[in-house]
Amino acid sequence: MNTTLKIITCFLLLYSFGISCSEENKPNSNNNNQVRQPINPNGDTELALLMRAMFEDIQEVKKQIAAGDSISLSLDHERILTAHATEPEKAGSKEYKAFANTYLQALKSIKTVSPSQKIEAYKSLVNNCMTCHQALCPGPIVKIKKLL
Ligand code: HEC
Repeated sequence: MNTTLKIITCFLLLYSFGISCSEENKPNSNNNNQVRQPINPNGDTELALLMRAMFEDIQEVKKQIAAGDSISLSLDHERILTAHATEPEKAGSKEYKAFANTYLQALKSIKTVSPSQKIEAYKSLVNNCMTCHQALCPGPIVKIKKLL
């Protein structure tokens, strides 16, 4: 990666850090020229930090597939089952756990399918990110779409 690309990537990442579930609920009236409030007044949750790292990890997976390399993850995605969230009642729900398990299955299968099936498996993986978010946390969907 050259330096310009690195800088651009950094800016994109910094910019995208402002995205969370609560984004859609922000009142529009009073944010003209105002400094953005932190998304979570108590700081970022374990789950939010994990999700950002997952985003980057899946970006790497996309590169690995494009390069025909074998898939290697740098993160334990199973932590989505235990990480603490902004709305623990949501992330502890049966629905959340079901989405999380389907996601983890899709992650496993992307490693095991034959090379010719990797691209389809990748799409279905990102769709699994999306399904959970559509149901429980729509804010980051715009960002997740960038993985496709
Ligand atoms: C099982 C449900 C579920 C799945 C699957 C899931 N997410 Fe999330 N995601 C959440 C929840 C809930 C939050 C809110 C975390 C919080 O605020 O504590 C979140 C937050 C995020 C955020 C915002 C983090 C921030 O900065 O506040 C991003 C980005 C994100 N997810 C990306 C992804 C990506 C990429 C995938 C797939 C690789 C994915 N998510 C899969 C439920 C899910």
